[in-house]
Amino acid sequence: MADKNFYITTPIYYVNDVPHIGHSYTTIAADTMARYKRMSGYDVFFLTGTDEHGQKVSESAAKKGMTPQQLTDLLSQNFRDLLPLIDATNDDFIRTTEERHVKAVQAIFKKLLDKGDIYKGTYKGWYCVPCETYVPEASQGENHTCPDCHRPLKEMEEESYFLRTSAYADQLLKFYEEHPDAIKPQVRYNEVVSFLRMGLKDQSISRTSVPWGIPVPGDEHHTIYVWFDALINYLTACGYGTDEAKMNKYWPVVNHLVGKDIIRFHCIVWPIMLLALGLTPPACVYSHGWWTRDGEKMSKSKGNVVDPHEMIALYGSDVFRYFLLRQVTFGLDGDFSELALVQRINSDLANDLGNLLSRTVTMIEKYRGGVVPAPGAYESLDDEVKSQALEQFAEYRKFMDNYQFDDALKALWSMIGRANKYIDETMPWKLGKDESLAARLDTVLSLLAEELKLAALMLAPVMPKTAEKIWSQLGQAGEAKAVRFDDYAWGSMTGAHVSRADGVLYPRIDIEEWKKQVAEREAAKKGAVVTDPGDHEPEISIDDFAKIELRVAQITHVEEVKKARSLYKLDLDLGYEKRTIVSSIKSFYKPEELEGRKIIVVANLKPAKMCGILSNGMLLAAESGTHGAPDEKISLLGPVEDIPLGSRVH
Ligand code: MSP
Repeated sequence: MADKNFYITTPIYYVNDVPHIGHSYTTIAADTMARYKRMSGYDVFFLTGTDEHGQKVSESAAKKGMTPQQLTDLLSQNFRDLLPLIDATNDDFIRTTEERHVKAVQAIFKKLLDKGDIYKGTYKGWYCVPCETYVPEASQGENHTCPDCHRPLKEMEEESYFLRTSAYADQLLKFYEEHPDAIKPQVRYNEVVSFLRMGLKDQSISRTSVPWGIPVPGDEHHTIYVWFDALINYLTACGYGTDEAKMNKYWPVVNHLVGKDIIRFHCIVWPIMLLALGLTPPACVYSHGWWTRDGEKMSKSKGNVVDPHEMIALYGSDVFRYFLLRQVTFGLDGDFSELALVQRINSDLANDLGNLLSRTVTMIEKYRGGVVPAPGAYESLDDEVKSQALEQFAEYRKFMDNYQFDDALKALWSMIGRANKYIDETMPWKLGKDESLAARLDTVLSLLAEELKLAALMLAPVMPKTAEKIWSQLGQAGEAKAVRFDDYAWGSMTGAHVSRADGVLYPRIDIEEWKKQVAEREAAKKGAVVTDPGDHEPEISIDDFAKIELRVAQITHVEEVKKARSLYKLDLDLGYEKRTIVSSIKSFYKPEELEGRKIIVVANLKPAKMCGILSNGMLLAAESGTHGAPDEKISLLGPVEDIPLGSRVH
């Protein structure tokens, strides 16, 4: 049945970054939806992967003395390794350097070229190297800077292949008018539609300056623009050109989850590529917001990027998943705070959910030997609580179908809250003391067990481990995730053997104690010692060392090197002479943070030309983390006490 197939994707992540909260967020949301749809009876195909071509990759590889392929093999693995940690149930992992993808991209390029939807022309414009995109004048910052990363743009003119996007603007607009759900949330739909109404320019889709890319078939002087290449991953993995049955099954019932920064590519360029290929645009592109941390933008230089590995090691993957989906409405920006996460553990997980489970199971063990009794006659209170639970379940399904994860969880927690209140109202501990009220106690305990079973099922897409733990404490066979929501019926708990054997679900965290631990953790990070990296140099003699002339110098002036993303030209004063060096520290310091600073330089290094500038020496800096990755940190070395410029360092 075509309407019971569902294809969901994350963006494919750039390998030149280490996996952070932004990546895990989309993957967790997509995974939750994939799990939910499976439980809703859908045949699901869930795809994620890595985007591996482009200038940045070849630049970092060159710095490391590796081939781009060797580097991407290493970096892609970081993303793959994160998947089991966050419990992602992806069905495929695609890499754009795989042969299946290269073949698909070239075949599509050729098809559109033959059809006349791709043609050769000349492109002139302002290019942002780090973002790998041309930026139109209207969107540029001051002095031709990139509106996203604020770095200087480079004016470029090159022969280029173009996709005839302009020819498809009206057709796409019509598609969106007929499919108002194809872009969500509404604000993004409006944004894309008004952009389309202004008309489109043809999209440049090849580069002559980026060797690390898929060659244009028949014109190997050009490589295919990284976005044209990357977007096609969704078709490659769906069997375009190789597996017709798979394509028929999952296209166009595809949902792309993307951050708000990449909707133009997904909602304009991509659907036009599809229309040109004679395919239907995606059923839905859902755009989510961006996370900040404690109110601040996350960045490598601030060292405040949320590391999913760390959060999962501290709190477990279920808590991380729950927090990300509960804290913020999917589609809006959100703020990550570890304190807020701990507070949610205490209130939602320990207090509400954990208490309901432990109170219910303990009472069934105490009063009924651990076996869920058959209920007596329902009173009006019982009917009310039961129908509230079933209503919340229906609401939950409506919200989940619409990516309203936070509302779905609120519906579940409203059910949990009602069940806890029901315990207070019925006071089973009093009923347990009076034999004549045994039937009433049976009803109460049975109803609570029913509520918990339903809660476990509703929880399963978001907190898979916790759901299974509840499932097993409730003495249920198999796994919660194997249940289909449509098969669920109230009233199947009689006779189940419950057990607290697994212990407490979520112990409360003492906030004062936790604050101390955070402080210790921060202190340990600051004073952290690098574990033996193994990259030691061979032993040298004191005479070898004496050959290096190290001196104290002061940075007097800093200039950006126009042609290079990472380089500064530094003017130095060594007291006895002035000289210039070129150094790759631009991504770590602003010029004003450097000017006036005293540093240590290697003064007798053979001068070398870098980007046309003669660099006469080299500065010393400590480096930790992975070179070129966001965890990389550097610290410039300099004299601790004041000492004259030009002093020797031994
Ligand atoms: N490679 C492209 C996507 C190609 S898809 C055909 C890309 N990769 S990315 O690694 O830079 O970004 C991947 C996703 O991470 C984007 O959806 C982006 O919005 C998201 N995030 C990056 N930082 C983020 C936050 N701080 N918060 C939430 N998501 C953010 O773009």
